[in-house]
Amino acid sequence: MNAANPVILERALSRPPKEADLPLRGDSVGNDRYTCAEYLKCEYHKVWHTVWNIGGVAYQMPEPGDYLTTELGIDSIIMVRQEDGSVKAFFNSCPHRGTRITEAEDGHVKEFSCPYHGWTFDRTGVVTSVPDEEDFAESPCGKARLKEMPCEERFGLIWYNFDPDASSLDDSLGETICRELESHRIEDMLRVLDMTAETRSNWKIITDNFNEAYHVKVLHPELIPYVAADYEDCQFDCFPNGHNRGWFPSFMPSVQYGSDVIGEPLKSMAAAWNVNSDDYVGRDTWQQLRVDIQAAKRESGEAQGYVHYSYRADYQLTDYVIYNLFPNNVITVGPDGVQLLRPRPHPTDPSQCLFDHWWLVNRVEGQAMTPSPAGGPDLPVADAPHEHIQYGEKTLGTTADQDLSIAEMQQKGLASAGYQGYWMPNQERRVQAFHEHLNDLMRD
Ligand code: FES
Ligand SMILES: [Fe+2]
Repeated sequence: MNAANPVILERALSRPPKEADLPLRGDSVGNDRYTCAEYLKCEYHKVWHTVWNIGGVAYQMPEPGDYLTTELGIDSIIMVRQEDGSVKAFFNSCPHRGTRITEAEDGHVKEFSCPYHGWTFDRTGVVTSVPDEEDFAESPCGKARLKEMPCEERFGLIWYNFDPDASSLDDSLGETICRELESHRIEDMLRVLDMTAETRSNWKIITDNFNEAYHVKVLHPELIPYVAADYEDCQFDCFPNGHNRGWFPSFMPSVQYGSDVIGEPLKSMAAAWNVNSDDYVGRDTWQQLRVDIQAAKRESGEAQGYVHYSYRADYQLTDYVIYNLFPNNVITVGPDGVQLLRPRPHPTDPSQCLFDHWWLVNRVEGQAMTPSPAGGPDLPVADAPHEHIQYGEKTLGTTADQDLSIAEMQQKGLASAGYQGYWMPNQERRVQAFHEHLNDLMRD
């Protein structure tokens, strides 16, 4: 972001502008993509080696020499802050004989040192010393280096791409997605939840789940009273390069809500902004309730410490928008923070993946605790340590738990000899678009 000229969307926007529908071919979706180890291996090279992925949160590595590591499939990636403030990313594989040079998740170094034979590397990845240098026909010092990959700091996050010839992240995402993500100023947020769960499903079962909202009224009934997730109320847009966006008007019930009277939790959510939800009886009034809460937030939010409301468009004061950035970066933005819900592929087993759940929040003056996204216990407003768990050991948040609970069942059903392909309604066209883009990459 250009700090002098931050993106502010048009204030009066009541929803994200609708994109023209991209044509779909109607490809069938075979189950080998979920179950076949050979497909996973091929996918690793044809998909994961060509896309941008999120490696970490930028504020965690402010100083030159600070580094973070992340894992993607069989690979570990090291991201290092440079003297000039930029970030470089390297494959974590020693140019001597391939050992990972660190297993730490983060740290600070003047030089890296490989634990096997002691080669050292400066922050730019170049070998600076080796034991017994005179014994080499040609010294590796100043010549050998960690293999570098494209790396960008954007939206407060560190992104990497295995493809040395990758086009820029902005080119991949396109102007609309970049503008909207930038408008949230994620770089000013604090990550208060950072969990990784080992999960027994293919990674795409989880992205499929986030690429549709058809399941919400069945799997997440607790959202019905305050998120209008029914397809007739929402807007779904597909973008080039496999990305998509879903918009969910919130602070109003969904059409499945079974009463004319607003109940909890929306009643309290409205009351927090001095809006009496008892004044809104019947579904004809629900849109007005949402709009009136937007107005109340606009009027008094900043004074109550919600400084970020000063640069939100109207819809951003109440609604949830999910950006599914191909292949697996699911970024859900809400009025007071951003979630990353991200499956990462298992190195070899197509029926497993890692599931990351991050929750980054805007700081609100005087607020020491913040609501967990969708149902978990309140969280301290402080940088969260990384927790690595087996799915089921503890909650990942109510809705994430619900989504993952179905993932293992779907993995088993998809592997069945009785699997017949997908039969999807129009509202699941983002699932279809995802698989058609995947097919394009796998074919090349
Ligand atoms: S493998 Fe790294 S120094 Fe030998
Ligand atoms: Fe869900």
